[in-house]
Amino acid sequence: MKLDSLAGKTVVVTGAASGIGLETALAFAERGADLAICDLDEAGLAAAGKRIEALGRSVLTRRVDVADRDEMQAFADAVHERVEAVDIVMNNAGVAIGGPFLSTSLDDWNWILGINTVGVVHGCHFFIPNMVKRGKDGHVINVSSAAGYSASSTLAAYNATKFSVLGLSEALWDELQPHGIGVTAVCPGIIDTPITRNTRLVGEMDKPEKREEIVSGYQRRGYTPDRVAKNILKAVERNRLVAPISPEAWGLYYLKRFAPWLLRRISLAMAKRAGQ
Ligand SMILES: NC(=O)c1ccc[n+]([C@@H]2O[C@H](COP(=O)([O-])OP(=O)(O)OC[C@H]3O[C@@H](n4cnc5c(N)ncnc54)[C@H](O)[C@@H]3O)[C@@H](O)[C@H]2O)c1
Repeated sequence: MKLDSLAGKTVVVTGAASGIGLETALAFAERGADLAICDLDEAGLAAAGKRIEALGRSVLTRRVDVADRDEMQAFADAVHERVEAVDIVMNNAGVAIGGPFLSTSLDDWNWILGINTVGVVHGCHFFIPNMVKRGKDGHVINVSSAAGYSASSTLAAYNATKFSVLGLSEALWDELQPHGIGVTAVCPGIIDTPITRNTRLVGEMDKPEKREEIVSGYQRRGYTPDRVAKNILKAVERNRLVAPISPEAWGLYYLKRFAPWLLRRISLAMAKRAGQ
């Protein structure tokens, strides 16, 4: 999909109050798109809305829990009152759990599956049919992760959700191709965003010093979400199905493809280092 000028186009971004969602919404606005954004964080959402308006674009902001079917339906209805169909839908809202399967409760599973997997299904379910019916080009961006193709015992539940997003995106890529709609699964590596503060740590990882270690590790890595946004736009322009973002995400991608046994050994060694 050409992104030189998005004047007159509408882009939906979930989880746009912070991090990768916020920066990508701003990048689309800079190219001329109007936005419809949602998040749980109302203050962050209002601030994001102001920044988009300051770029001269119109924006619909709404507090929505992506895991909630009725709230997502109402959000989509509000968007479709303004436009027949959106041009780009970006299912980005996400959360993380750090820790192994044996320390993950069923409540933890419901929480993360509801947001990271069902939330993406909701975004696809409520926005894609109108795009197909309209019959013009469009694009679906689903935010997975490098953890969507490389698993580690310290991210058991997160891996399950991000693998599911990648799998759904691959299936959708085939299904939507005849309709002229592209699909990209975005797979970032280690990106310095507030997700590190909001991640649920479970089991042995649930310690303040572990949290600080993670936060400072991500800060030291220093890969910022505005760089992710730029790469997302490039991937959409090229209709790239899987878009690893940052050098470590590319490294893991090639290891998974060409030396999966080596990737397993590295994961095991890292889990040992993390004390599991
Ligand atoms: N930061 C990383 O290192 C990294 C790496 C790979 C993938 N990702 C993925 O990128 C996406 C964005 O994460 P981020 O790093 O920008 O984190 P972030 O915490 O900065 O942003 C996530 C946003 O999603 C919102 N959100 C959470 N639950 C929600 C819900 N139920 N309904 C609506 N909104 C909700 C949060 O309020 C927040 O504004 C996530 O899907 C995450 O898994 C992040």
